[in-house]
Amino acid sequence: MKKICTFSASNSADSINRTLLNIAADKITGHKINVIDIRDFSMPMYSLDKEKQDGFPATATQLRALFAEQDAFIIAIPEHNGSMPAVFKNVIDWLSRLVDQQQPIFASKPVFLLSTSPGANGGSTNLQSLTQLMPWWGADVRGSYSLGSFYENFFEGQLNLEHDRRLCDGIAEFVLHLQDATTVA
Ligand SMILES: Cc1cc2nc3c(=O)[nH]c(=O)nc-3n(C[C@H](O)[C@H](O)[C@H](O)COP(=O)(O)O)c2cc1C
Repeated sequence: MKKICTFSASNSADSINRTLLNIAADKITGHKINVIDIRDFSMPMYSLDKEKQDGFPATATQLRALFAEQDAFIIAIPEHNGSMPAVFKNVIDWLSRLVDQQQPIFASKPVFLLSTSPGANGGSTNLQSLTQLMPWWGADVRGSYSLGSFYENFFEGQLNLEHDRRLCDGIAEFVLHLQDATTVA
């Protein structure tokens, strides 16, 4: 059994990415799902001056410790202006200052990326960039799924069947791969 940390990289109370994340997480059985909310780890905007003056926010050290305990991650990331939301980049900036280069933020652990948006593109521009970028932060990106036109494809609490099947396939492949992943003691 692996410990899979899931979170939406959105600070919106009604995050549609959190909705998609929960649908994806519900498809997993036989593993421990640790759902976190990044709004519980709010951090000031990173600056070198702030770090020098005040040190690290307790939320950054807590999140670092929490990440270290996980075996894998599923992260749903909204697209803001073709890129990642500022709140997520800010978390990455703080954590990158706390970890060393030998053991970067995601420590070579498997990561599955999700994204959705009201537009047809579903945040896939950002998802493609992150697939290239996240290995620099130590993520072993093992798959991704993007859902376009969220409000047309999610209604009455259900994902459209075709999209649900594709999400199921993506998650199943990710979970299969976890058998070979390292388990954190
Ligand atoms: C500042 C801002 C920029 C946005 N830029 C994009 C974008 O580039 N592509 C896109 O598909 N949606 C974009 N959107 C719409 C978001 O996809 C939409 O707000 C979505 O609900 C965000 O996900 P969340 O609900 O999980 O926070 C943007 C929204 C905001 C607030």
